Amino acid sequence: MERSLQEILQSYNDRSPLEEAYTIPASWYVDERVAALERQFVFGGTWQVVARADQVQEPGQFVATELEGEPLIVVRGGDGQLRGFYNVCRHHAAAVVTEASGNASIFRCPYHGWSYGLEGTLKGAPEFEGVCNFDRGQNGLVPVRVETWERFVFVNLDENGAPLAGFLGGLAARVAPLNLSQVHFFERRTYTLNCNWKVFVDNYLDGGYHVPHLHKALNSVLDYKQYTIENEDRFCLQSSPMVESEVDEATSATRQGERAWYFWQYPNFMINLYAGYMDTNLVLPDGVDRCKVIFDFYFDDVSEAAAEKNRQSIAVGERVNDEDVGICESVQRGLHSRAYQAGRLSVRREAGEHLFHRLLAGDLKRGGIEL
Ligand code: FES
Ligand SMILES: [Fe+2]
Repeated sequence: MERSLQEILQSYNDRSPLEEAYTIPASWYVDERVAALERQFVFGGTWQVVARADQVQEPGQFVATELEGEPLIVVRGGDGQLRGFYNVCRHHAAAVVTEASGNASIFRCPYHGWSYGLEGTLKGAPEFEGVCNFDRGQNGLVPVRVETWERFVFVNLDENGAPLAGFLGGLAARVAPLNLSQVHFFERRTYTLNCNWKVFVDNYLDGGYHVPHLHKALNSVLDYKQYTIENEDRFCLQSSPMVESEVDEATSATRQGERAWYFWQYPNFMINLYAGYMDTNLVLPDGVDRCKVIFDFYFDDVSEAAAEKNRQSIAVGERVNDEDVGICESVQRGLHSRAYQAGRLSVRREAGEHLFHRLLAGDLKRGGIEL
């Protein structure tokens, strides 16, 4: 007999200390009902990165995107203020903005030509004379909450959630000294993985456990024994001192500095830092068995002269990612097996995963009660 959603949610004990804890159960990675609950209460209820701040720096600059099926626009107004809107025309619901990004002084819907100002107000509705009880003032684009932190623009579909600063908690203070403004955006790469989005996040949060086994080249430049894992609020910081190595030339040339810093912010955003280097990972579900991971690469030098070195650095990152993709897809197949229900966690290594599972369980169990 099929288990109810409530039974599935209750099958994870989010009160267990790490030494006694299990992972979230396999059903959470394969059940459509859990995925639907996540859409509503995780992705629809938390601050989500939707753009880079440098894309919407100047008045008129906009980014159009989608968050869990909701078409959205973020735009810098003529008054310098950043605003977010649903990209849904108030006339008959067409997408008003059809380019992914750009610069505009007005948004004109391609369907019947209604136009909206950058502040969201309806400016023009052709051939609409004689329509009764139609108040233009009430027919602007519907706003959505938007806030910026460091280099990133966040949106929250939940009108009642805490402001971004409260959501990020201690992350801001931990990241501030690392001066993210030193690096500049260079390139985006997007990967599709045949696994649930949480498998990718788990893999990221295993405290380096898999690094010596799966990423031999990367492992050679990290002092694995000194790898640290700190949980705070809704983030986990994994960090490792770096060492000189001749195992892999490309890795040694592009992964440098005193320490490697790997930040994860619940639920799906990562920031990875080495000297002169940053990449961010945004993990987005695409059905229960698939996810998309967007990597944005930043470097201190993005001049033409540095392009080849930067591309070499991306290639190093891509090799690590290829290794992760293979194992994540293998895990997803295993999670479907009748042989597997849940696993235990390494106390030394897997505290980050434990935090992730508890935060997720908190949101899903709260959501399960509201349903
Ligand atoms: S749907 Fe936009 S003008 Fe008609
Ligand atoms: Fe990895």
